[in-house]
Amino acid sequence: MDAAPNPRRRIVVGVTGGIAAYKAVQVVRELVLAGHDVHVVATEAALRFVGAPTFEAISRNRIETDLYEGVAEVRHVALGQSADVIVIAPATANTIARLAAGLADDLLTNTVLASRAPLVLAPAMHTEMWQNPATVANVATLRERGAVIVGPATGQLTGNDSGPGRMEEPEVIVAATLQAAGAASSLATVQDFSGRRVVITAGGTREPLDPVRFLGNRSSGRQGVALASAARNRGADVVLITAHLEVEPPDGVSLVPVGTALELQVAVTDAAASADLVIMAAAVADYRPERTSDAKIKKGQAHEGLSLELVQNPDILADLAAHRSPGVTLVGFAAETEPDDERLIETARQKLRRKGCDYLVLNRVGWSTGFASERNEVMMLDSAGDIVMTAAGAKDSVADRILDRLA
Ligand code: CTP
Repeated sequence: MDAAPNPRRRIVVGVTGGIAAYKAVQVVRELVLAGHDVHVVATEAALRFVGAPTFEAISRNRIETDLYEGVAEVRHVALGQSADVIVIAPATANTIARLAAGLADDLLTNTVLASRAPLVLAPAMHTEMWQNPATVANVATLRERGAVIVGPATGQLTGNDSGPGRMEEPEVIVAATLQAAGAASSLATVQDFSGRRVVITAGGTREPLDPVRFLGNRSSGRQGVALASAARNRGADVVLITAHLEVEPPDGVSLVPVGTALELQVAVTDAAASADLVIMAAAVADYRPERTSDAKIKKGQAHEGLSLELVQNPDILADLAAHRSPGVTLVGFAAETEPDDERLIETARQKLRRKGCDYLVLNRVGWSTGFASERNEVMMLDSAGDIVMTAAGAKDSVADRILDRLA
């Protein structure tokens, strides 16, 4: 098995006012030692527990606390926009409430609001506060929006009491943060897909015209390959059905190479019969030439241009959904060029209904966005058409966000 990627990430560590702030020092230290660029944003309350010099020395970067410092550089927005992941440890009940309400009354909440990066929260509070219906609802809201909640653990709290509310251990928070940023090493990765059979299609199908030509598309297969690696790292048994790829497929997965949409249909229908999850990330040709010439089509054959008769390919995803075995989750992808956000989402909702799948991952593509890029920006809709997750960043980090939602 090849090593999972471990690139340097820009990580914002938010620290809020709780006694567990002292353990945030360890979180920062481990992230720095793992080679990441770490920026601490502390609330005023946090600095009553741990001093700014400690965080500055450990993070090797200036600590950020004040909304009104660095205004000329628009720092309150810049930090969030440039982050690959934001982790808040400890996250107090008060900060969780402010985030759930979308407030931006200090640098940390501004940073979160101005960011599309994954958000990881490590709550720490007394058991009564954790179990209070207000906190329960706020955590549910944040989870629904895609936040990863790590812990809290159960154990001795600050006073004599014990119960759920203790901040999770630093190494667990670090592992969850790196996983959310798509930078986890396979050892640190939570095995939440262990024993699950996952089928993923990736790349662009090619429909032959003659022995040397085909009708194809610009899909590179990067997002599907990133999903396959991420699912493998999380313990899944992965079958990766590859149409044309411009990247190397990962080790440690079963590869089924295909060419045309019809070949892909046979392969995925076969693999789906025993799968728990099918992700159709491949770009499938909707049409194929009615006839494929056995000999190369020569220039002189047609006098005034050449017309191609095309016939429609089956809608593979819709057919899978119509004949699905119980218990399988079906995920489609939709690459759309619609520039208007509302119309883009409406198009996706119609597509969901038409296909009958459980989730649709939507991204906007154009001449220069989407396909060949290392990055992606997606929205995930459930079968009711509700947006259940949005993610932007490296395709491997987007892959983990999609899997977080499906786990
Ligand atoms: N798909 C499929 N079979 C096809 C075409 C697409 O299974 N013949 C799958 C893709 O793998 C993707 C989803 O359906 O998961 C949406 O693909 P897309 O090309 O966006 O949708 P189309 O059905 O082709 O709709 P349109 O061309 O109208 O956008």
